[in-house]
Amino acid sequence: MTVNEEKPLRAIILYDSRSSGGSTDRLIDAIGHELVESGAYVEKARCRANADYSFLREFDLVILGAPVYYLVVGSRLLGALVQSNLKKYLRGKKIALFLACGSPESMALTLYLPQIKVHLFTNRILSEKIFAPHQMDDPDTVGEFVEEILEEYEKADRGRAGSLQVQWDDEASEMVNAMPSFISGKIRSALEQYALQNGIKVITAEVVDEARSSPMGI
Ligand SMILES: Cc1cc2nc3c(=O)[nH]c(=O)nc-3n(C[C@H](O)[C@H](O)[C@H](O)COP(=O)(O)O)c2cc1C
Repeated sequence: MTVNEEKPLRAIILYDSRSSGGSTDRLIDAIGHELVESGAYVEKARCRANADYSFLREFDLVILGAPVYYLVVGSRLLGALVQSNLKKYLRGKKIALFLACGSPESMALTLYLPQIKVHLFTNRILSEKIFAPHQMDDPDTVGEFVEEILEEYEKADRGRAGSLQVQWDDEASEMVNAMPSFISGKIRSALEQYALQNGIKVITAEVVDEARSSPMGI
């Protein structure tokens, strides 16, 4: 993965942990180090449940993570997702998630990760990772996580550049805008993808109907 040197990727690691200098702090430093090595500009910030998260406007990528304590994901991160404007400023952002915990991965994926993801179902999640205690200080595991984030970021960015080449007429745009917000973004991207693949420059109501009955089944 190469980061554009003229406009480096701006990433923030937004995390929660009860301890200072504990395993999560070390993990965050390792993730940050890998991102910086790849040419990104990186900051880190600890979550507070009632902070103002408007500073997220400055970042292209948000990496959210926390440990699990007594079966619950870090309460300041969950609190921020519920009580603050965090969800508002995460809208439209590319996101990666990680958890640090001692339970088996299968348990973390079914019991812990959904505690965060339930708040982010409209976001594009580039990568998600459960770090077991022995993996938090393992440079290869951290490196693979960061590599996947950067690869998926690049893909998403290429998709966005492609979508800028496609126009929407008013009727088609209204059709998609009338859909519930949790689905309209996905339908919009799928239709832009369909248009790009079929050399269509303007998405009209006819194109929407055509795409619906295509094998892509939009
Ligand atoms: C008090 C306490 C409770 C924990 N509860 C859980 C738990 O319910 N499930 C789990 O998978 N891991 C649990 N863990 C493991 C932590 O999530 C893991 O060790 C994490 O890396 C701790 O991060 P920290 O060092 O930044 O505090 C617990 C750890 C502590 C200290």
